[in-house]
Amino acid sequence: MTIRPIVILPDPVLRQVSKPVERVDDDLRKFAGDMLETMYDAPGIGLAAIQVGEPLRMLVLDVAEKDDPKNPQVFINPEIVARSEALNVHEEGCLSIPDYYAEVERPAEVTVKYLDLDGKEQVVEADGILATCLQHEIDHLNGVLFIDYLSKLKRDMVVRKFKKLAKDRPPARMVG
Ligand code: NI
Repeated sequence: MTIRPIVILPDPVLRQVSKPVERVDDDLRKFAGDMLETMYDAPGIGLAAIQVGEPLRMLVLDVAEKDDPKNPQVFINPEIVARSEALNVHEEGCLSIPDYYAEVERPAEVTVKYLDLDGKEQVVEADGILATCLQHEIDHLNGVLFIDYLSKLKRDMVVRKFKKLAKDRPPARMVG
């Protein structure tokens, strides 16, 4: 498995709308493994394919508590088919917007339809942190970031900060 570089704000790749996965095959399963390894290495609890530069409707997550065994999950072509009216507020962060956290309000429960790594259709009724994480990652597949839910003032501040950081960052160099 390979750890992939994570795309960071303000890279326009993050605003792309990802395309449905057409075939669940060994290449895709290998890519899912790479995504999980990248997520654990970061470390994070969720990662969408576009965050490693692949515009595919696919995400991985692991919302297990720190002392519980690992619980890697892969969602292919996930789709929210129902949302609760009740809302929930969670503090969110994003591997593409490092070291920035903010509270976001979202539906407390969602029902998500998706394909598993065998290409079989599955349905999950999610609440708590799983519901938040699934909505955050599915947003990535549509080019939406959690900072889009903040006030324009706050969002502009974050984007400005990351634009400046990107300018100050030395260009990536290939060392042979
Ligand atoms: Ni994110």
